[in-house]
Amino acid sequence: MDSLEAWPEPVVPVQSLAEKDIETIPNNYIKPESERPSLTDVSHPNTLRIPVIDLGGLAEGVVECRATMKAISDACRDWGFFQVVNHGVSVELMSKMKEIWRAFFHLPMDQKQSYANSPTTYEGYGSRLGVDKDTILDWGDYFYLHLLPFAIKNPNKWPSLPSSIRETIEEYGSEVVKLCELLMKVMSLSLGLDVGDFQEAFGGEEVGACMRVNYYPKCPQPELTLGLSPHSDPGGLTVLLPDHHVQGLQVRKAGSWVTVQPLPNSFIVNIGDQIQVLSNAVYKSVEHRVIVNAEAERISIAFFYNPKSDLPVGPARQLITPDRPPLYRSMTFNEYRLYIRKKGPRGKSQVESLKAA
Ligand code: OGA
Ligand code: NI
Repeated sequence: MDSLEAWPEPVVPVQSLAEKDIETIPNNYIKPESERPSLTDVSHPNTLRIPVIDLGGLAEGVVECRATMKAISDACRDWGFFQVVNHGVSVELMSKMKEIWRAFFHLPMDQKQSYANSPTTYEGYGSRLGVDKDTILDWGDYFYLHLLPFAIKNPNKWPSLPSSIRETIEEYGSEVVKLCELLMKVMSLSLGLDVGDFQEAFGGEEVGACMRVNYYPKCPQPELTLGLSPHSDPGGLTVLLPDHHVQGLQVRKAGSWVTVQPLPNSFIVNIGDQIQVLSNAVYKSVEHRVIVNAEAERISIAFFYNPKSDLPVGPARQLITPDRPPLYRSMTFNEYRLYIRKKGPRGKSQVESLKAA
């Protein structure tokens, strides 16, 4: 029932359904009407865009640096989401990472299945989030792996093919960690804390990092389902390498869904629940979801930068004032992520439930 030892029913990779050239999707992927996407929003996107921030500004003069920090801080307050360009990660490495993972998902099914995951750690090849039985599933497969802390990193649980995938993951991981460290400094300073306070609240050198590579196969009835249901990310900070050719990510803004249109070579950054808690809700994690389409598959690589898993995280002392009492009680990330691991994506219900009485 509440156990994370096994999936409640056999897991069927969505890719194996998509490759059968079916014209209709199975019932257990059909969302209730109120949750279905409105695909006209995608062909006629509204004019709202998530902010775009050129991180090159941080390395320029004082004026540019301040303006860039303010742009980041405003985006964290108003949107919980932004795109970054000039982020320091090599464009070749970004393309290589996407191509190598695309090749992984195109390997024969039995090779992928040899990495089949279980809900205990989620590491490996899977399709399902949550262990509740009889839920409506999402139209997507994924590969999940841990990069940090070093002690739990186990490259033997990573794919061994295509060749050099492990080295590519390592190299990519260390580049993206640097970007996360930079963003943590900017957020900390922007809230009036010392430059290293956010990092320290996450466990300093002992932070966690994991990756979920998402694979959304073509879908014959995209208007009935979702690639990933609405959720906020449970961790600290997410750096998403989007598919720059196929859109699909939507962000909730004032009750409507805004489709993200990634700029060339950009990353999409978003605030997770742990930073909402640490910032005492000055910065917000925001709901997002993924829609699928009939014409093209889509790949995205989500890098999650998280607090040390056994360290309680609560609102930063400096952000608690008589006018602004602590909004959340502290909890370790190990405890926190059990919720999504059991229930799957459920909007922002979890962080809401942490609200101090
Ligand atoms: C995620 C996520 C978005 C995407 O993996 O948490 O929100 O575009 N992915 O795949
Ligand atoms: Ni997400």
